[in-house]
Amino acid sequence: MTRTAVPPTTVRPRRRQPWVLPLGLLAVAFLAFALPPYVTLDPAEARVPVPAELPHFYPMLAAHIGFGSVALLSSVLQVWPWLRRRRPAVHRWSGRAYLFAGVFPGAVAVLTVAPFGSMGWGQQTGNTVLGLLWLATGIAGYRAVRQRRFADHRRWMLRSVALTWSIVANRGWLVLCLAVFSPGALGGGPVDPTALMLAVGVASWASWVVNLAVVEWWLRRRPRPRRDQSR
Ligand code: HEM
Repeated sequence: MTRTAVPPTTVRPRRRQPWVLPLGLLAVAFLAFALPPYVTLDPAEARVPVPAELPHFYPMLAAHIGFGSVALLSSVLQVWPWLRRRRPAVHRWSGRAYLFAGVFPGAVAVLTVAPFGSMGWGQQTGNTVLGLLWLATGIAGYRAVRQRRFADHRRWMLRSVALTWSIVANRGWLVLCLAVFSPGALGGGPVDPTALMLAVGVASWASWVVNLAVVEWWLRRRPRPRRDQSR
């Protein structure tokens, strides 16, 4: 029997990314909380006011939520470095699902709804600009990969995922903004409608501007020297 020695450098330890599982669990937990009122497709159960004079509003809102769910779940697979490197075919297929069954139809649907939000121009403009940027970053990321500009593809897709996750960040921002501008809305006290609209408007903008700023900082930061190279 002959023994073949495997040089240690050829056997790479599988890198673990401890944040992937918590991120996936957060996406599932968010959907478990957000989706139930919409699975019945009954406008009366919606958590947001549905304007009776806009018959397209509820179907487009429901479509947006369905496509948004696909985008949120598949985004976790897309940012998982191990999957990208070791299972590129899965990365490609979940990437197609992310864009064609998530971001593109989800953004088109939401652009028919966002300008009509019931919480004033702050919310309406914040969500409409978010919808446009969601579409634009998805298109830019897809064009880049078709043209094999992989570094650009990575940058655009990270921006897109930051925008997708703004829906989760929004829940935190909303509580914070209500506590600051309209505490009555949290505690069952008196609610000034103007202050409530201000809180919702600020939360709508902060949800995606902060996510995008963090990703932009991360993309532009100086790369740290890798430990094996610095030695
Ligand atoms: C990133 C682009 C997105 C934009 C511009 C956007 C915009 C909107 C708008 C305008 C509404 C209606 C709010 C109202 O009229 O008060 C809404 C509601 C909703 N969106 Fe999105 N959204 C986005 C992404 C997502 C994603 C990725 C999900 C994931 C499932 C999602 C889930 C929901 C849910 C569940 C609601 C209903 C609100 C509630 O029940 O509290 N959205 N969104």
